[in-house]
Amino acid sequence: MKNFKHLIAALCTLTFVHCEKPIETHLESFPLIPIASTMKETGNAFFIKSKTILYFDEQDASLKRSATQLKKIWEARSKQEISFNEGIPFMHSKIELIKKDFESDEAYEIKILKKKIQISSSNEVGFFRAFTTIDQLLRFQNLSNQNHLPTGEISDMPKYGYRGAMLDVARHFFTLEEVKKYIDLLALYKINKLHLHLSDDQGWRIEIKSWPNLTNYGGSTEVGGGPGGFYSQEEYKELVSYAQERFITIIPEIDLPGHTNAALASYPELNCNGKSPELYTGIEVGFSTLCADKEISFQFLDDVIREISEITPGPYFHLGGDESHVTTEKDYITFINRTQDMVFKYGKIVMGWDEIQNADLKPNSVAQYWADAKNAKAAIKKNAKILMSPAQYAYLDMQYDSLSPFGLHWASYINIKKAYDWIPDQLVDGIEEENIIGIEAPLWSETISNFEELSYLAFPRLLGYAEIGWSKTDQRNWEEYQNRLIEHGVLLDSLSINYYRSPKVPWKEQRQN
Ligand code: ACM
Repeated sequence: MKNFKHLIAALCTLTFVHCEKPIETHLESFPLIPIASTMKETGNAFFIKSKTILYFDEQDASLKRSATQLKKIWEARSKQEISFNEGIPFMHSKIELIKKDFESDEAYEIKILKKKIQISSSNEVGFFRAFTTIDQLLRFQNLSNQNHLPTGEISDMPKYGYRGAMLDVARHFFTLEEVKKYIDLLALYKINKLHLHLSDDQGWRIEIKSWPNLTNYGGSTEVGGGPGGFYSQEEYKELVSYAQERFITIIPEIDLPGHTNAALASYPELNCNGKSPELYTGIEVGFSTLCADKEISFQFLDDVIREISEITPGPYFHLGGDESHVTTEKDYITFINRTQDMVFKYGKIVMGWDEIQNADLKPNSVAQYWADAKNAKAAIKKNAKILMSPAQYAYLDMQYDSLSPFGLHWASYINIKKAYDWIPDQLVDGIEEENIIGIEAPLWSETISNFEELSYLAFPRLLGYAEIGWSKTDQRNWEEYQNRLIEHGVLLDSLSINYYRSPKVPWKEQRQN
């Protein structure tokens, strides 16, 4: 028997065939976040060999782009090379990309057999979501020093088409590199929208060529008096395409008619009294407003909406509309009605915080429910869709508890369990499944000024929001999720991401990288 084993080993060496020992695997207990619609294990292993052949139809340009994306992910994780449609099949690992119809663009299937992996979707975005699943599988196998994947089948599709995060780059400015790092993490968790809060009292963060002082002056500071910053239009376009490559849509927000001190400080003519206020570096809200009596206000807004729409391929433009406490109701309605028309004129769909229902919302606009359920229900009556961002559950800037060094708590403390353990369509009577386009987790930046602080508030809660947005409600269970989350703590450690290690979660010991 011993000699026989030696003989096999010698044959394997002589023929360059990689002969693996059988190994027991459990795909179903793999800690994917968000959890997939179905996972069925078959108990064997697909071994990652020194080379992998990726089979796909090279005549199909979109499949070729998908293949290139998978090659990047696979080679980075497995450290093994992928070649397209060539190689000696019995010596190498094999992956096939197969196009077929699914219910949703983002749906996909992965079959991991002993000798090959088949990945199917109807298009590029679905393939990309599949690759993020492969990415998580490979990352976890790397963390446990395994060179195989468990065999079985994953079949997956999202609950909501809109799974978003919002980043406030106005209170504190975040650099292009920091936002890209955030985008990479959003993509790993299948989040597909990034809403950028680009203007507020404390700073104007996007270049408007026809109104250059907005950034030259209005972008020159931030909360606490730091140097602020802004994105040139070229930089914004770079961010948009970086996100697009990861199938994430950027949604620009210009908050109006309140939250406009930075603009008012930059151009005296936008003020009713013709005088500019000082730049503002505090964190109060609700004291500023554009002037409805001056036509130049509307020329200004038309220019802003036009210039940003021209460099935004995504379908939405967010008008803000929250906390306009010093705007009269009549003026507020004038601002939202007129800017809504501009948004349509420039080919976009209106989004706004829930207060925008006070205006004459056009059907299919999106009201973002953050504070007032009455507003959300009134928006539904106007045939608007609801984006769920209830501050008490979904605000990433709320402290975890009273000891959190960053964040605020005016809406609630939101510990990791509370962030996960709610159901968007069961939160408010009258906001039903058919009214909801999805969920978004906003991260306001009054108390955070760098990526470490940002990630401390965002992680690990963002993973819970990703799962609420993607996975079916009946698949979600806090106890079971917590077990997967613990594994993602290890993953976040491996990426050197600073996250909140709640003492209520039995995390694994942190390794030094
Ligand atoms: C908001 O938190 N003011 C939308």
